[in-house]
Amino acid sequence: MFRALIVLLLSVFIASTSFAQDATAPAPDRSATGGAQTLEDILARQRGEEIDDSFRRDATGDPDSAAGMAEQLGTLGGASDPELWRALRYNSADITSSSRGPAATVLVQDGGMRWLEFRQGPLIKYGGYLLLGTIALLALFFLIRGRIRIDGEKTGRTIERFKSVERFGHWMLAGSFILLGITGLVSLMGRKFLIPVFGHDSFALLATWSKWVHNNVSWAFMIALVMIFVMWVVHNLPDRTDLNWLAKGGGIFTKGHPPAKKFNAGQKLIFWSVIVLGTSISVSGLALLFPFEINLFSATFAKLNSLGISGALGLGELPTALAPHEEMQLSQLWHAIVSFVLMAIILAHIYIGSVGMEGAYAAMGSGEVEEQWAREHHSLWVDEVKAKEGTAPEGATPAE
Ligand code: HEM
Repeated sequence: MFRALIVLLLSVFIASTSFAQDATAPAPDRSATGGAQTLEDILARQRGEEIDDSFRRDATGDPDSAAGMAEQLGTLGGASDPELWRALRYNSADITSSSRGPAATVLVQDGGMRWLEFRQGPLIKYGGYLLLGTIALLALFFLIRGRIRIDGEKTGRTIERFKSVERFGHWMLAGSFILLGITGLVSLMGRKFLIPVFGHDSFALLATWSKWVHNNVSWAFMIALVMIFVMWVVHNLPDRTDLNWLAKGGGIFTKGHPPAKKFNAGQKLIFWSVIVLGTSISVSGLALLFPFEINLFSATFAKLNSLGISGALGLGELPTALAPHEEMQLSQLWHAIVSFVLMAIILAHIYIGSVGMEGAYAAMGSGEVEEQWAREHHSLWVDEVKAKEGTAPEGATPAE
């Protein structure tokens, strides 16, 4: 599932950032310009079409044909000024720089504009639609289904569901994720939506604060992610009860409750989404936190190419020689896209853990749940707890 998700997300933004080029388009006649770009090239670019720019990319002069020093114009070397700028732009110039670091010799980064446009445009638009759409669906679900009530008579007795260390881990994860979500959205969307409302000065303060919080709170999220994984993974391994639970749709729209252990199949899906997507967000976040130190994409693209996945998806050969900035840009897009997906999932989780279901919040509030709630939603778990305590199960466990 993880690989399928990677492939899906990759194909979305790779297709959007137009890495793949249309190799079948016939090369235009550029004889009138001596091989330089034509008006048609410029117009095509302005229309946003992808053109094969190898005629420019490769036209960076020929040092071997430089006129000798003593000859007329000899000191100009074998490349004209435009050819030199082109070599800088396409990162093929032989540059020596006094500053050090992986990106020091990249003076012009050609792909940056495509990344910026994607980040300011489709990323904000579709990410925003995803979150607003999820909220609208949850509101609709609430209107149709209402709050999921405890069906049976309450017993007045409670069962311990989560120990304090588990609740601490959960709230550290939840608190940090919510802060990261808000500050991340401020960083991504603030320029567009907040500057017009608050003005540049106030937004500058908010953006600085958001960045600081985002960078530092990320550690709490990563620590909590590890805690939650260690404490709950055993209860989230798939088993046969999950198939039955899923087949009955969790009993959400039907009468009766399918039996479940400590976590039902729906919760297991939430758990694994949090672990897998949360880890992916953390790794890409670390790549952003330590610029140019962690390169994730050239290696991933090489794998996708060699496994034939990129070909099967019609993406052709994915580029494996990425400029350091390109690695960062891809990390940023990946970080944001996966975060949007996880935020949408978590909105649904927050709904069901609070207003959506009577008796659920107590599990993470006090750690104690009403026994009747536990019997309805986690009957097999109640049996286990009672068996451990040596108490015979009270009444029949809903077996349906
Ligand atoms: C205000 C926000 C939140 C509320 C009210 C809330 C509530 C709850 C509750 C009541 C449970 C226990 C369910 C049970 O007893 O079976 C739970 C479990 C869990 N929560 Fe949250 N939660 C919130 C935010 C988050 C966030 C932001 C994350 C992760 C980023 C998260 C991750 C989990 C996970 C992985 C579980 C275990 C699996 C599950 O029950 O779905 N929660 N939450």
